[in-house]
Amino acid sequence: TRQFDFVVVANRLPVDRVPSEDGEVQWRTSPGGLVTALDPVMAKANGAWIGWAGGPDLDIEPFDNHGTWIVPIPLSEQEIEEYYEGFSNDTLWPLYHDVIAPPSYHREWWEAYVKVNQRFADAAARLAEQGATVWVHDYQLQLVPGMLREVRPDLVIGFFNHIPFPAYGLFSQLPWRTQIIEGLLGADVLGFQRVADAGNFTRAVRRLLSYETKGSSIFRPLDANPERRARSNKPVGATRQVIAKAYPISIDSESYEVLARRPDVQARAKEIREELGNPKTILFGVDRLDYTKGIMHRLKAYGELLAEGRLNVEDVTLVQVASPSRERVETYKALRDEIELTVGRINGDFGSIGHTAINYLHHGYPREEMVALYLAADVVLVTALRDGMNLVAKEYVACRFDNDGVLVLSEFAGASDDLKQALLINPHDIEGTKDAIMRAIEMPKSERSRRMRSLRKRVLENDVVKWSETFLDALQKGYDGKGRQS
Ligand code: G6P
Repeated sequence: TRQFDFVVVANRLPVDRVPSEDGEVQWRTSPGGLVTALDPVMAKANGAWIGWAGGPDLDIEPFDNHGTWIVPIPLSEQEIEEYYEGFSNDTLWPLYHDVIAPPSYHREWWEAYVKVNQRFADAAARLAEQGATVWVHDYQLQLVPGMLREVRPDLVIGFFNHIPFPAYGLFSQLPWRTQIIEGLLGADVLGFQRVADAGNFTRAVRRLLSYETKGSSIFRPLDANPERRARSNKPVGATRQVIAKAYPISIDSESYEVLARRPDVQARAKEIREELGNPKTILFGVDRLDYTKGIMHRLKAYGELLAEGRLNVEDVTLVQVASPSRERVETYKALRDEIELTVGRINGDFGSIGHTAINYLHHGYPREEMVALYLAADVVLVTALRDGMNLVAKEYVACRFDNDGVLVLSEFAGASDDLKQALLINPHDIEGTKDAIMRAIEMPKSERSRRMRSLRKRVLENDVVKWSETFLDALQKGYDGKGRQS
């Protein structure tokens, strides 16, 4: 079998299946940031990408996609329910996002999670050549680093957590908390979005396992299994150093700016404004339909501004794109109902013929259309209650080469660590959020321009390619920059 010097392991593949009319299945490179980030790495390396193709019982042979070897991992219908919808998105997702929704703990889901993680790890162990680098991604696959190290101690293993890592008081709810921590500690470098996330992880290690830590270093006993440690010939107390550190992710900033500068995209932005009736102000929100995004809080703030007469539907409209996500999970279904009820009420109460308070769109859109919307938007509202990073904030900034537009940004999104020139809000504070929206609408052009320039500098300097280079560099160098330990 073919072997590779760089292997990416992620729940999703970098390609989407598009069944064509004649029944033939085609593959299209997915638009996600991770794919773009790893493009230059993949181009240089002899690389493979292991992931789930997105449907039940798909037994698809590995294939080449522009120089990357694509290795689809099959999941049964039951595994999709238990590993993906269950443990990943109804246990870990709410737990890691500060239990905004209550996490469900089910032993069968955990068992499916272990089994599927093992399947990914086995594939990686088979595909990686001697001494290869394996980069594992996100909360769906936290056991893979440990499983991989068990059988392939020769590998250099990195892990990046794209979502928050919760405070110990919450994390400790998880009945399988020790297994998760040990699974992650199989990596050489663990990347997190925020300094606070890395800190939460390190504290969990100390509390649960009493391993020694110093700054971003964790000293894991070479063999954590006490029986095996007793039998091994390694000196007592020998450790392997694991780094847990913040590597905030970004977007391919330049490609957004390039799109935004395209005449057809600008023409579309103008057309959008016209289609909306050329209101004085267009507010814009775009999120996966997820309870972490604070869409209800946003609607509440906007609805109150209309009710109080601080905003008038003749002058302002809110465009809210909520792209469908995890639609079979109960919490997501309930949220959709709640949002759609609220949008209907606000439109019914405050709209007039020809003036809609909220243009609600339950679809995903191609990147061109998104960029046109960003250009058309006077104010973008990011009101997440908890978010690993939030790339919408960075995309908006990257698109605004005209140095105009105002970003209202939740301090609970990782992006707020860097984007200090946004109007930062606490979305739980509805009055504060309302004031920020009004301030954004009324902000003088000179202040808008000053803030946007500073935001753009951050986003253009720190793009996603730099992110992956920085992470992989740390992974190659080892903890002290003097080369890896044997
Ligand atoms: C978040 C997660 C990703 C995930 C994405 C879409 O950004 O960090 O791992 O792929 O949401 O969710 P989905 O469940 O459709 O993969």
